[in-house]
Amino acid sequence: MVLESGSPLVKHMVNTLRDVRCDAMRFRWVLKETAKLLLAEAAASLPLIERKITTWQGGFVGSFVDERRIVCVSILRAALPMQEGILEVLTEAEGGFLAMKRDEQTHESRLYYDRLPDLEGKRVILVDPMVATGGSLSDALSLLSQRGAESILSLNIIGAREGVERVAAAFPDVAIHIAQVDPRLDRNAYIVPGLGDAGDRAFNTPE
Ligand code: PRP
Ligand code: URA
Repeated sequence: MVLESGSPLVKHMVNTLRDVRCDAMRFRWVLKETAKLLLAEAAASLPLIERKITTWQGGFVGSFVDERRIVCVSILRAALPMQEGILEVLTEAEGGFLAMKRDEQTHESRLYYDRLPDLEGKRVILVDPMVATGGSLSDALSLLSQRGAESILSLNIIGAREGVERVAAAFPDVAIHIAQVDPRLDRNAYIVPGLGDAGDRAFNTPE
């Protein structure tokens, strides 16, 4: 299921990223804050618990997100600022990492390292700014399911229509909350108009 944001604020953030004048520090900041905006859009599906707290007027029972059942997993590198944003909001959630790199010739992703906590019974928030062919996201979703994740939601910034539809068809139970779906891929499997290479732009590495 693909849920493209209709928020003008999210569009403002995405278009800020598209601007070539957006430097690395601002790029990381916008990724981080946009992840929080997408989390707010996805929040209805997060597990809740009732907790008793003490307020200035005494005892109070209120709803909280069950953060200890949540794991936020990032796909390196470009998703790191998004993960930081999610973990700033859900401070007791766990973090996990999937290191993947797309082969520039075949455009296929390769997992070269993972560091995931126990996912049994956990709700996973998977973050990755870019969904181009959809290969990285599909591989990540397969791995997280194999490791026992109870449910997964995906937060993404820009996707190419064909890649997003490919992932949605293969993983119908996953809610893909995406800021913007762009029309196509170029011959190097880059999203058009997209924003270029998100990892390079976030971390000041040459293309
Ligand atoms: C980018 C991006 C996604 C992937 C999307 O990562 O962050 O993970 O490409 O492409 P796909 O949908 O065709 O798989 P990249 O492999 O460039 O690594 P980086 O973040 O370290 O630059
Ligand atoms: N990875 C990116 O960072 N950008 C694209 O357009 C495609 C893959």
